[in-house]
Amino acid sequence: MAFTLVTVASGARSLRSLEHGETFHPVVGPMIEARGLHVEQSRLVERAREMSGPLVIWDVGLGAAANAVAVLEAFRGVAAQVELHSFDSTLEPLAFARAHATELDYPTPWLPSIDALLSSGTAETGAVRWHFHQGDFCKIPTAPAPHAILYDPYSPAANPSLWTLEHFTRLRKVLTEPCTLTNYSRSTAVRVTLALAGFYVGRGSATGEKDQTTIAATHRELLAAPMGAAWLGRVRRSTCGAALREGAGPGPISEEDYRVLSEGILFQ
Ligand SMILES: C[S@@+](CC[C@H](N)C(=O)[O-])C[C@H]1O[C@@H](n2cnc3c(N)ncnc32)[C@H](O)[C@@H]1O
Repeated sequence: MAFTLVTVASGARSLRSLEHGETFHPVVGPMIEARGLHVEQSRLVERAREMSGPLVIWDVGLGAAANAVAVLEAFRGVAAQVELHSFDSTLEPLAFARAHATELDYPTPWLPSIDALLSSGTAETGAVRWHFHQGDFCKIPTAPAPHAILYDPYSPAANPSLWTLEHFTRLRKVLTEPCTLTNYSRSTAVRVTLALAGFYVGRGSATGEKDQTTIAATHRELLAAPMGAAWLGRVRRSTCGAALREGAGPGPISEEDYRVLSEGILFQ
């Protein structure tokens, strides 16, 4: 079996991938992290209310659908239009969560939507049209350009190919709408990589044992706490500030990357 149920520090139940050796939403559990880190921080409901067309959300790493469920929950009874595009290479974790819905608890109110997604790849729940796209997210999929990306494809250590400069540069190119990208990493290397790929990078809210996470955006005004000069100083001093390039190991940032970073869009 590729997944097992675990109890995290908060007492909530979650999934653990035996293959990747990682627990989904550790410490605080699936729903606290999904709501705080992704839904609230991206201001999804406020932004959807301000739009004339649909707010498009990319849920990268559908997994056991805690982030997706947090979106369904946030838009319950809200007059808005939302397209939720979930990406994963497999439906196995969602099928596992479906089979253990009682223990996990959070899927239970949404079983009709989860069943529809599992059987037909789409579901309609109030304001939200939910679509599943199966495949390798390294090959940037074709879907309407997002306004928010909930980025949750395991950690850079467990799944390096989804955290490289090459990958984020390809992703940035398809972001033709103002867009946020939330994730649980607070690593300097991840932030440097996102900034070199053309994102503005900000300090994200705390979750679990992490005092901060990361929110990136195509537009600086989407960030509540953009990184500034003090962070740049820390990047220069860090022993692991190098961008995450394909085939490259950790180390300090190169002179050339530092120059691009300090002269680049981060501080315009
Ligand atoms: C930590 S889990 C996601 C947890 C999920 N967001 C949730 O709320 O339950 C990471 C997921 O990313 C998926 N994943 C990993 N690498 C991928 C890739 N290259 N393309 C698509 N999905 C990938 C895995 O199959 C796994 O379901």
